[in-house]
Amino acid sequence: MTNPDFLSAAQDLFPYTRDLRRDFHMHPELGFREVRTAGIVARELRALGLEVSTGVAETGVVALLEGAHPGPTVLVRFDMDALPVTEETGAPYASQTEGLMHACGHDGHTAIGLTVARMLHARRADLRGTVKFVFQPAEEGLGGAARMVAEGVLENPRPRHTLALHLWNSAPLGWLGVAPGPVMAAAEFFRLRLRGRGGHGAIPDAAADPIVAAAQVVSALQSVVSRNVPPRETAVVSVTHIRAGETFNVIPPDALLEGTIRTFQPEVRETVLRRFREVVEGVSAAMGCRAEIEFMDYTPAVVNDPAVTALVRQAAAKVLPESHVESEYATMGSEDMAFMMQEVPGCYFFVGSANPEKGLDAPHHHPRFDFDERVLPRAAALMAQAVWEVVG
Ligand code: NI
Repeated sequence: MTNPDFLSAAQDLFPYTRDLRRDFHMHPELGFREVRTAGIVARELRALGLEVSTGVAETGVVALLEGAHPGPTVLVRFDMDALPVTEETGAPYASQTEGLMHACGHDGHTAIGLTVARMLHARRADLRGTVKFVFQPAEEGLGGAARMVAEGVLENPRPRHTLALHLWNSAPLGWLGVAPGPVMAAAEFFRLRLRGRGGHGAIPDAAADPIVAAAQVVSALQSVVSRNVPPRETAVVSVTHIRAGETFNVIPPDALLEGTIRTFQPEVRETVLRRFREVVEGVSAAMGCRAEIEFMDYTPAVVNDPAVTALVRQAAAKVLPESHVESEYATMGSEDMAFMMQEVPGCYFFVGSANPEKGLDAPHHHPRFDFDERVLPRAAALMAQAVWEVVG
């Protein structure tokens, strides 16, 4: 079986990929509302003659491509949703919807996914196994992946492996992040209500001041990472929101604190959550207040399977040999692809997409986020080749 030249194929398809990407970019849609986007995805996949399911987790699209030869099923996932950000790029293809923007590159991911489908479809006579294309809604914190898992995306057929990618503006074009082990953090959000006793600002001894308690809690929480997490491990505890009180001369009855916790290792997560509770409850009690602690929206870490990761590196060496491959890359960001990957081993990799000379290096979720579109054929070729390696 000849090895396909996916980079040439992807470069030939560049106008197709770029036009799709710009069209998605001009018409961003929030999570679970990707109706127009999903319609285009389904249309393009059906045009290839694939078996397409729509309405999976509201607006998700799943398609199966059967190779001519027997082999395993591999699931490849692309996310489709935009963000509630007002675009400031000034690009000719800027968002036409006020207040919404593809500020994370998921427009590119969707266009890449359709390009991969076209390339692999063109080589199906040589393809082994089955490729399950998953176009996921609502990656940005609304739980699209977990919903797709609940609706059976990992069954019929059950994939043996999973693959996913992210265009990555923290790194230039030519860079690849392909690392085994944890590459994106487990994330959860917390909400604390410190219940004290309100009173007159001039008579603090008759009150239990939740603002003083909140200040002590925020300071004391800094010791969880610095004193309880082993120095060679990694964790983040960030308090990002505080609200208490209304005016000068009233001690309020309670304070609200919110924030996020990020970890890579389950043991570290357990330690951080345990110490978090102990510190919050203990310090609050010492300040005469009672703490109510709520944890929400847990997303597990994205943990790459070493064997699948080695195959993606092999794919990169074949199709993008001049790349700089970073093999220990990880970010404290999180990604709900973790819900699929904790069931089915796989590899999640990063494709450098920034070009500082052209000013295309704003970070993800920024109003001026945009990437060098030359990354599109590179990413599509790498994903197609990765599928080729994984189905063997
Ligand atoms: Ni993203």
